[in-house]
Amino acid sequence: MTTELAGAAARLIRDRRATRAFLPDPVPDETIEAVFGLAGAAPSNTNAQPWQVEVVSGVARDNLAKALMDADRAGLRTVDFPYSDDIYAPAHHRRRAAFGAAIYGALGIDRDAQDLRAAYDAKSLNFYDAPHVALLYAPDSGDPRLTADVGMYAQTLLLAMAAHGVASCPQALLSFYADTVRQTLGVTGGKLLFGISFGYADPTASINAVAVGREPLSETTRFHR
Ligand SMILES: Cc1cc2nc3c(=O)[nH]c(=O)nc-3n(C[C@H](O)[C@H](O)[C@H](O)COP(=O)(O)O)c2cc1C
Repeated sequence: MTTELAGAAARLIRDRRATRAFLPDPVPDETIEAVFGLAGAAPSNTNAQPWQVEVVSGVARDNLAKALMDADRAGLRTVDFPYSDDIYAPAHHRRRAAFGAAIYGALGIDRDAQDLRAAYDAKSLNFYDAPHVALLYAPDSGDPRLTADVGMYAQTLLLAMAAHGVASCPQALLSFYADTVRQTLGVTGGKLLFGISFGYADPTASINAVAVGREPLSETTRFHR
């Protein structure tokens, strides 16, 4: 059965995309509260709602960006969730390479120019100039099931934002400075999973026109009938 929401849902889901250039205009408080309120309606194991979220704007946002860029210059990287490229299987690596080619191609950065890629990453610690950033924390246990619940929350938030005309970019990069974020914001518990920069998209930025595709359904999904 196709409900009246199907078309709107398809547009919402397909049109949301990671935005990497923002206008300086802040999102009104009522809109911010509405989208974070909607995100809290995400499902979770036994309805534990195990997410903790820090929403950062204004002077606090500027202080955090400065602290992150200082930490980057000082080589101070700390993670709550260990990371290695080994987490990816060969099929994942293929998709990541296509993504990298699309993004860095649009930026005019050669795939082997590691220094230019690092410089772009360092710049993105200013949240792609977005006026707001949300930091998403999983519980201290780092349990994979509870951490997956935070992912459910995150996608619900991204869709709620898109529905309100608010653009966003999830940024795992921010989680590589976990201690800096914790100290700057005075966060006392939880493990930093990733951040989400948000605001209004800069319509003139060519990077925002990049649309990355998806695998055909048959690559990821089997139907047992
Ligand atoms: C958990 C997570 C972390 C991400 N981290 C980054 C990041 O650090 N920097 C970045 O530019 N994009 C990041 N992205 C955005 C992805 O690159 C993007 O979602 C993916 O390429 C699909 O593109 P789309 O969101 O435009 O459909 C992240 C996305 C997710 C879900």
